[in-house]
Amino acid sequence: MTAEGGGGSSLGSKQDLHAQLLRYAADLQTSVCRERDTHKQLSAIVEQLEMYTVDLRRAVAAERRRSDQLAEAHLDTILRLARASTFRDNETQAHASRLGLYSGVLAEALQMPERERQVLVTVAPMHDIGKIGVPDAILHKAGPLTPEEWSVMRRHPAIGASLLRGSSSDLIETARLVSLTHHEAWDGSGYPQGLRENETPICGRIVKFVDVYDALRSKRPYKPALSHEDTCQILLKGDGRTLPSEFDPRILDVFGDVQERFDEIYRQNRDE
Ligand SMILES: [Fe+2]
Ligand SMILES: [Fe+2]
Repeated sequence: MTAEGGGGSSLGSKQDLHAQLLRYAADLQTSVCRERDTHKQLSAIVEQLEMYTVDLRRAVAAERRRSDQLAEAHLDTILRLARASTFRDNETQAHASRLGLYSGVLAEALQMPERERQVLVTVAPMHDIGKIGVPDAILHKAGPLTPEEWSVMRRHPAIGASLLRGSSSDLIETARLVSLTHHEAWDGSGYPQGLRENETPICGRIVKFVDVYDALRSKRPYKPALSHEDTCQILLKGDGRTLPSEFDPRILDVFGDVQERFDEIYRQNRDE
């Protein structure tokens, strides 16, 4: 009885094991099917995502093209404004172009970042754009200006700045700063705000210096054109009218290393 019973129990447990194995196999198959479905769904999602990525890349490229076109349009507007300002002023187109080139040389010597350098080269020529708002009688007066006329003339930085105010373009914002600050001086003797030292942004300090260099080199109704050597002497040592204390000492320092390039720029871009 015991042996039979024992045999029956062994058979029963074998059957149980078999049944359990079958259940495991069925469960496994179900799991595999489920996994396969999940994998298929995931593949479909990945495919969809890849399609979205392609669409997104196309959209980004189109947006970039649009923003490049907008930047070009900004630049075009700026250059036209700069040309417009030189038509009204006694300053020539060549003076404006030279200012961009000198500014690029100084910006490089001062190790300014590439983008800032490019922006400065582009916008320096329009430093006097505010002269659009100065009456002809003052702008083209042959003789010396009266104190009242000087005070009108000295409004041109602020006029230019208000013309360029409120743009989201870094180019136009730099042009605004250059317009506003290109007559400020390191020692606080400039205008319109009497800013001192680093209160004037570097773009304004650079354009201040190169504008004075070019004015000294150029013939004016009230003064002859000076040689490069005499101009350097005045900028670095002063002549009673122009003082080295007006300029950023770092600019004076690097100018010593690159001054020959200023002379080249002046000679290669003379007034017509
Ligand atoms: Fe000016
Ligand atoms: Fe100028």
